[in-house]
Amino acid sequence: MKAFDRIIGYREIKSQLIVIADTLKNREAYRALGVDMPRGLLLYGEPGVGKSLMAKCLIEASGLSVFTCRKTEPNGEFVKTIKNTFDRASQAAPSIVFLDDMDKFANGDQRRRDCEEYVTVQACIDETKGRDVFVLATANDTDKLPDSLMRAGRFDRVIEIEAPEGKDAEDIIKHYLSRKKMVSQAEHTAIAAMLKGKSCAALETVINEAGIIAGYRREECITNRHIIEACLQIDGGITPGAYMPIDLERKSLASRVVYHEAGHATAAELLSPGSVLLAAVYRSGDGFTGFVRAKHDPNDCDALNGIMVDLGGRAATMIKYGEVDLGCLDDLCSAFGQAHRLTEGICYMGLAFFAYDRSELSQEKLSGIEAAVTALVESEYQKVQKLLTEHRPFFEAMAQAIADKGILTAEDIRVLREEYAAKEA
Ligand SMILES: Nc1ncnc2c1ncn2[C@@H]1O[C@H](COP(=O)(O)OP(=O)(O)O)[C@@H](O)[C@H]1O
Ligand SMILES: [Mg+2]
Repeated sequence: MKAFDRIIGYREIKSQLIVIADTLKNREAYRALGVDMPRGLLLYGEPGVGKSLMAKCLIEASGLSVFTCRKTEPNGEFVKTIKNTFDRASQAAPSIVFLDDMDKFANGDQRRRDCEEYVTVQACIDETKGRDVFVLATANDTDKLPDSLMRAGRFDRVIEIEAPEGKDAEDIIKHYLSRKKMVSQAEHTAIAAMLKGKSCAALETVINEAGIIAGYRREECITNRHIIEACLQIDGGITPGAYMPIDLERKSLASRVVYHEAGHATAAELLSPGSVLLAAVYRSGDGFTGFVRAKHDPNDCDALNGIMVDLGGRAATMIKYGEVDLGCLDDLCSAFGQAHRLTEGICYMGLAFFAYDRSELSQEKLSGIEAAVTALVESEYQKVQKLLTEHRPFFEAMAQAIADKGILTAEDIRVLREEYAAKEA
């Protein structure tokens, strides 16, 4: 069915919509089986996830005439518009009434779900019963809709549309990039991971913003770096001016942040090559801050790697400056959290530490668990210190690259890793 080709990803939802469109298009075949036809479909989800697009594809595939209703008038007049839309659809039946952004119908009176607009929609649906009028609606927030409106017989089908994930998100990013002048190798996976949970509309905005950053610098193509800068700008409010070269010869807050992040990134790359998607250090308020995004490799069976990567930042400043990092609290929380899950959950340190219900455990057993967790974190800390020390040139090169560029993309890190491997060989 061609109409649905415009929807990228969302395979399962698409297949449900294809069946509904088929029931609308080939009603007789279903009637011959004695089937009651679906009466209505509500698509709901965050703004920009593609509800209106999916509704339009369904309408197109059904081949029926459509009567659309969107809130454009003040409340009193709008009730008349709703009735009028249903009347026209009834006369043209078989047909579709399309109520786009239905949760906005009663904007003037958000607290009451029994307001006139919904009562009208409900009455109109009931009146068109048996007249071959299919009611298709979209909404961002179903909490604003009365339960009675969503009961079966009115909207038989209710489908939630979530923000795209994984391969879907990558494919949507590829689609938006295909219309832009982009360097050959876009890091779709890294971009999709950074934009996890974002709607399609937000993905489009980021890609476009990347183009604006590139254009303002009069650059020939959009690069991965532009896209990452756009993500961080839209997501974290970090403006492109916040990335600045940092002098590593001088010990400063900035250089410490650089080494800290280089410690995380180096540990992650050594333990799981290709896992670091992004490392960044930038000015924030009066100081500097940074982060590393690494992808979790589902094939990586070494559950301890995550703890080592968390502790890599603290190990780095210890190796470089012989000092405890004051900014490692979040890392320690994460490392201890992981160590707890490993110790009590999957009994990594032995079955004796299994904690089915913590509140029932004896003081003695709890102390045993705490001691085991601390020992585990301590030993992983020693391991990551050793790892970074053994690969000091790679660690230093990582720090220098972060200091020079502010942002390292997955591609930048791959180049560093390969240069290091070549030198080692
Ligand atoms: N799965 C998708 N494939 C391709 N484009 C999409 C997809 N989902 C959304 N879009 C695009 O994103 C934008 C916002 O979608 P829209 O349907 O208006 O969202 P909603 O109605 O949920 O607010 C539109 O330009 C739309 O074409
Ligand atoms: Mg919409």
